[in-house]
Amino acid sequence: MSKVLVVYGSTTGNTESIAAKIVSLLEAKGAEVVLKNAADADPAGLADGYDAVLMGASCWGDDEIELQEDFAPLAERFADMGLAGKKVAAFASGDSSYQHFCAAVDVVEAGAKDCGAEIIASGLRVEGGASDAPDDIEAFAEAVAKAL
Ligand SMILES: Cc1cc2nc3c(=O)[nH]c(=O)nc-3n(C[C@H](O)[C@H](O)[C@H](O)COP(=O)(O)O)c2cc1C
Repeated sequence: MSKVLVVYGSTTGNTESIAAKIVSLLEAKGAEVVLKNAADADPAGLADGYDAVLMGASCWGDDEIELQEDFAPLAERFADMGLAGKKVAAFASGDSSYQHFCAAVDVVEAGAKDCGAEIIASGLRVEGGASDAPDDIEAFAEAVAKAL
């Protein structure tokens, strides 16, 4: 059975709701999934013991990309997580009226690739929370499950 870590940073609960939905969908597809809030996650060796790591966060900048406050310290330490050779996919909640819509997806994908991870699904960008895009979340979970 594939072991998957889902780690998220969320201020008002939108990304958290997406993370929780992804967890339940992957569990229903037979994966063993651990859910962690970035606020409680130590970046050192975070990916150890997992086949895949899914990372998601919101953004709070105006002109610049400003990652959610709990997730930002993790993003600064992708290199310490042990991501080389791991399967990675990114998700985010955002608001498309901002210049950098769901920019956490781009940050995670670029950072993970730099560390030698394989991006296994196209990044999930949700306007709002889990209930706003059930089909997109299902398609993301399906793509991830297929790649495990
Ligand atoms: C001051 C401010 C800046 C924001 N900047 C962005 C942004 O750059 N890109 C984006 O997609 N959404 C942006 N948002 C929207 C939030 O990321 C969005 O509400 C998101 O759903 C919050 O998710 P969370 O509850 O998981 O933290 C911003 C919102 C505020 C109030």
